[in-house]
Amino acid sequence: MTESILYREIIMDHYKNPRNKGIMRHPDGSAERDNPLCGDRIVIAYKLDGKKKKLLSVKFEGTGCSLTRAGASMLTEFVKGKTIKELAVYTDGDFIADMGVPITPARKKCALLALEALRTAVGIEKPLIRKTSRYPK
Ligand code: FES
Repeated sequence: MTESILYREIIMDHYKNPRNKGIMRHPDGSAERDNPLCGDRIVIAYKLDGKKKKLLSVKFEGTGCSLTRAGASMLTEFVKGKTIKELAVYTDGDFIADMGVPITPARKKCALLALEALRTAVGIEKPLIRKTSRYPK
């Protein structure tokens, strides 16, 4: 199997069978990010563990290209169990390396949209749009 076929299969698996997609009830935080150039939009919501230190669960919803949605699906799996401090030093490069697929510079925005939303939701990154009030506390 060539690398490009494997890449397509990993992305398409997460795109067609997204993990942790849906609305989270009573999250500890949430945020939305979009790409104004194409209209892709991802909302990320999370819950912390009882000590409020580790990400207990992360869910996403939204619309976008296959890489945006696959990236969001993968992110929800990669960050589960991380502390906010660990997330603060989890770089774009770390995430792309964890994805395990080559991402061209032109597609980086797609792959990173959910990570940007999560950083906004936990307060690491300033909101570009707004923290969403979509989720009732
Ligand atoms: Fe819009 Fe991928 S094409 S973020």
